[in-house]
Amino acid sequence: MKDCIATAISAPNIAFIKYWGNRDQHLRLPANGSISMNLGGLESHTQVTFDPALRADRLVLNGLEFNGQPLQRVSAFLEIVRGMSGTSTFVRVDSSNNFPTGTGIASSASGFAALSLAAAAAAGLTLDQRQLSRLARRGSGSACRSIPGGFVEWFAGENDETSFAQSIAPHEHWALNDCVAIVSREHKPVGSGEGHTLADTSPFQKVRVDDAPRRLDICRRAILERDFEALAEIAELDSNLMHAAIMTSSPPVLYWQPATVGVMRAVQEWRKKGTPVFFTIDAGPNVHVICPSAYTSQVTSQLNTIPGVKETLCAPVGGPARLG
Ligand code: PMV
Repeated sequence: MKDCIATAISAPNIAFIKYWGNRDQHLRLPANGSISMNLGGLESHTQVTFDPALRADRLVLNGLEFNGQPLQRVSAFLEIVRGMSGTSTFVRVDSSNNFPTGTGIASSASGFAALSLAAAAAAGLTLDQRQLSRLARRGSGSACRSIPGGFVEWFAGENDETSFAQSIAPHEHWALNDCVAIVSREHKPVGSGEGHTLADTSPFQKVRVDDAPRRLDICRRAILERDFEALAEIAELDSNLMHAAIMTSSPPVLYWQPATVGVMRAVQEWRKKGTPVFFTIDAGPNVHVICPSAYTSQVTSQLNTIPGVKETLCAPVGGPARLG
């Protein structure tokens, strides 16, 4: 194996139309398509080394060696890359994030996107963006949306070949900002991996999935036309629909804290009074508050006055995954 070492850098993303539930757990074929924006300035740096001296894969995250479940997940992913490149060599993965964990920013998306790009390059595979996105999807569904840049749509697809993400507008298309209101840094009770397996137990999941094409159309058009009000309404609706399914699954899960609801109410109030701002919430209690970048400092200082908001973390729209 010649080029056996490579480094890649990738941004996390926040979904406006969310992915929740899989039609195929193993291939991570999602129940519905989704749309997101990458978060600029927040990065996972991942180095992959195929090392013939290793007797097993090794995983170092933010300077700490990991075994158990995190290593198993990465190893299962690396098996796919080994299968594609016809090698049996074990790998050392060294990954670090420049953003703190527990902030409601999914490091699995940026982590697996960077891992896909670095592992493919180190294995000597030549993959186009669509193939890389499909590969990243196998590590973590939302990771497929961190391969292309800017505003991104993941087509649910019918099978492995047709389920991939592609950019619908580059990052410079629309200067939006994500101000994440952090209300808790505690480990979430149920991770998204387990959450996806519970999705179908909610009577709301079918309604949510059946209506997804309509929401995707509205969201895509709102982004292309830079229609903030339309984006605000559809993204809040979509976030609430996902949480309705989460709260009514069996067993039910409630990610929100009192301060989560405090931020939701405040954001809707500010919008009524004329500030362009909306919320969206992933599988956790922290609230992603989106606004045009000209409003970032106003929104950040208002968020910091809400009881229970510990701090806010802001990010503009980010670019695609790249080799380092
Ligand atoms: O890619 P996963 O398995 O971490 O799932 C992501 C799920 C949500 O963040 C809640 C929604 C989304 O589309 O990003």
